[in-house]
Amino acid sequence: MSDELVLLSHDDDVSTLTINRPDALNALNASVLEALDGAIERCAERGPRCLIVTGAGEKAFVAGADIAAMSKMDGAQGRDFARLGQRVLASLEALPFPVIAAVNGFALGGGTELALACDFIYASDKAKFGQPEVKLGIIPGFGGTQRLARRVGPGLARELIYTGRMIGHEEALRIGLANAVVPRRELLDKAREVAAEIVAVSPRAVAGAKDVMNAGAHLALDAAVELEAEAFADCFGPEQHEGMGAFLEKRPPKFK
Ligand code: COA
Repeated sequence: MSDELVLLSHDDDVSTLTINRPDALNALNASVLEALDGAIERCAERGPRCLIVTGAGEKAFVAGADIAAMSKMDGAQGRDFARLGQRVLASLEALPFPVIAAVNGFALGGGTELALACDFIYASDKAKFGQPEVKLGIIPGFGGTQRLARRVGPGLARELIYTGRMIGHEEALRIGLANAVVPRRELLDKAREVAAEIVAVSPRAVAGAKDVMNAGAHLALDAAVELEAEAFADCFGPEQHEGMGAFLEKRPPKFK
């Protein structure tokens, strides 16, 4: 395996980003976050139709922010570290194509936060999630206090964050944190199968839907549906002609 901290590979229209620090269970230190930032930028430039994010090794997706590094920080350094993590995860979240988290093992602290910055999560039957920061005397700092509540609801998010409790794949599925659970060996295939479904539809429409769903999450419903109307209008053009023309001609659409 390469000694690069983040690997980026491409298979036609689907890219895969792998956090690659398995000896430390893929823990996120500043170097990994900078490497992740660079990989996200390169991926944005290439413009695949879907990105899969996973962790190297058998045990972990990402076992959190790097505790050894944080143990030496003061408050000001902690703030900078949180801002770095938040900025990188915000750029992952803002990519104009879907990002699927394939959670192959421990996704703790920054690992759950990384998965939450993806559009949705598939978990292996080895996955464990949690925000254990309070056990270390800190709080989630890479967006977890906000994104977990938006994904699973405020009551459950508060319970998980206040206790620091780890949950397994069954509970993650039950609370809607994971969309599906599959055996470890089938995890990437599952993500690729769904990525292939996404590749077959209109890229412009998917990007428009993602943009509106991201932006609308922070707005009142009336303002959010106004954005939806604008994005709906923006769809009318070549891909909409192809999609609707193909339906009327009873043939599969071909989107470029
Ligand atoms: N930061 C830094 N190093 C970490 C880490 C983290 N978040 N998580 C794991 N590691 C390192 C361990 O220190 C260990 O390194 P070593 O081999 O040099 O001692 C290596 O990864 C393997 O971890 P280990 O704890 O031996 O594996 P385990 O199977 O016994 O336990 C976990 C797995 C995930 C339960 C355990 O590593 C853990 O609790 N990690 C921290 C989780 C956490 O609190 N994350 C939130 C941080 S804000």
